Amino acid sequence: MSASLEDLIPLVNKLQDLVFNTIGSDTLDLPQVVVVGSQSCGKSSVLENIVGRDFLPRGTGIVTRRPLVLQLVNLPSEEKDRPGSSGEVHTRTPKSNSVEWGEFLHIPGRQFYDFEEIRKEIENETVRIAGNNKGINRIPINLKIFSPHVLNLTLVDLPGLTKIPIGDQPTDIERQTRHLICEYIAKPNSIILAVSPANVDIVNSESLKLARQVDPHGKRTIGILTKLDLMDQGTNAMDILSGRVYPLKLGFIGVINRSQQDIHANKPLSDSLEAEREFFQNHPVYRNISHKCGTQFLAKSLNQTLMNHIREKLPDIKAKLNTLMGQTEQELSSYGVSYLNSGESKGTLILQLMTKFASKFVTSIEGTAAVSTK
Ligand code: GDP
Ligand code: NA
Ligand code: MG
Repeated sequence: MSASLEDLIPLVNKLQDLVFNTIGSDTLDLPQVVVVGSQSCGKSSVLENIVGRDFLPRGTGIVTRRPLVLQLVNLPSEEKDRPGSSGEVHTRTPKSNSVEWGEFLHIPGRQFYDFEEIRKEIENETVRIAGNNKGINRIPINLKIFSPHVLNLTLVDLPGLTKIPIGDQPTDIERQTRHLICEYIAKPNSIILAVSPANVDIVNSESLKLARQVDPHGKRTIGILTKLDLMDQGTNAMDILSGRVYPLKLGFIGVINRSQQDIHANKPLSDSLEAEREFFQNHPVYRNISHKCGTQFLAKSLNQTLMNHIREKLPDIKAKLNTLMGQTEQELSSYGVSYLNSGESKGTLILQLMTKFASKFVTSIEGTAAVSTK
C-alpha cells in the first residue's frame, strides 16, 4: 500500500463533519502547501506526485508562469451523505464508479473530466493572461479538483525563481517573482516545500534562502531534494539528506521525479513511483536510508505535519463545542426539556467524545504510517 494524502481522508472528513455540523465553520483551517524553488527544479512534478494525478504542465524552461491555486475537494460518496438510510452508520462505500473532475474559477459551470484537458486549459489560461512569451503574471489560476480520493487541502504551484530575464520578461523579473512567492509563503499557515535540485550546489539554493526569510526557525519548511538520479557519478547527497549541511526541523527528503524523457513517453505515475523505490533500495549509499526517501515518504511526512496541525486545533474545537452545548442545553431547558439527564455532566460527555475521537485519530494515523514504512 502506498502512503498518500488519501490515507487521511476518512479521519479528517469525520472531524471536518463534526466541526462543520456543530460549530458551523471549518475551524480546522488546514494549511496551504506551497512549492518554492528555482526554475525547472521539479516543483510541478513534486506537486503532481503528491496529488497522485497527472495534470500539471511541466517541462524544461519556464512553464509555470502564473500561480496555480489548486483546491482539492473531497467528494463524499452518495451513500455516506444520503440521510435516512435506516440509521446505518457503517455504510460501506464502493470505490469503483468514482468520478472525479476539475473546475476552473474562470470557466464557471464547466466540468473537466479529462485531466489532459485540464493541463491544456492551464496552458491556455496561462497564455491568455501572461502572454505567449516568457512573462509571468501574479493573477492566480484557480482550479478545484473534486474527487473521493483527495483531502480537502489547498496546494499552490508557483513560477520558479530566475536570475536573468529572457523573452519579454521585464528587467526586474527576479524581484517580481520573489515578491510573488513571498506573498504565498509568508502566511504562517502555509507549509513550504522548498525544492532544490541535487545536481546544483545546495549553498546556492534560492528556495532555502527564501524560505528562511519567512520561516527563520525552519518550523514549517520541508526541504526537498530532486534529481538525485542526475548527480555526477560517485557523488551523493547524504550530507544534505542527513541535515548536516543545512538544518531544518522537518528535514530533507530526496525524491526522483519523471525525467523529460519519461514525460514524452507518457510514463504512468505508478511506474515512476516504482522506479523511484527501486532506485533508493538498490543504491549503494541511499539503501541505508531508503525508508526515509522518495515520494511515498514525502507524502507520509506531509500527513504527519497536517496531523500535528489538526492535533493543535483540537483543544480549541473542544472549547467551542463545550460552549455550544451549554447554549443548546439552556435553550432546551427554557422549553422545559432536559437535554442531558443521564447523570453525567455535559463537560464529561464532551471530554469523553473528544478524547475518544483524538485517540482513535492518532491510532489510525500511526497505523497508516506503519503500513507504508515497508
Ligand atoms: P518546475 O519548473 O520547477 O515546475 O519543474 P518541472 O516539474 O516542470 O520539471 C522540470 C524538468 O525537470 C522536467 O523536464 C522534468 O521532467 C525534469 N525533472 C524534474 N524532477 C526530476 C528528477 O527528479 N529527475 C529527473 N531526471 N528529471 C526531473
Ligand atoms: Na520548468
Ligand atoms: Mg512548474
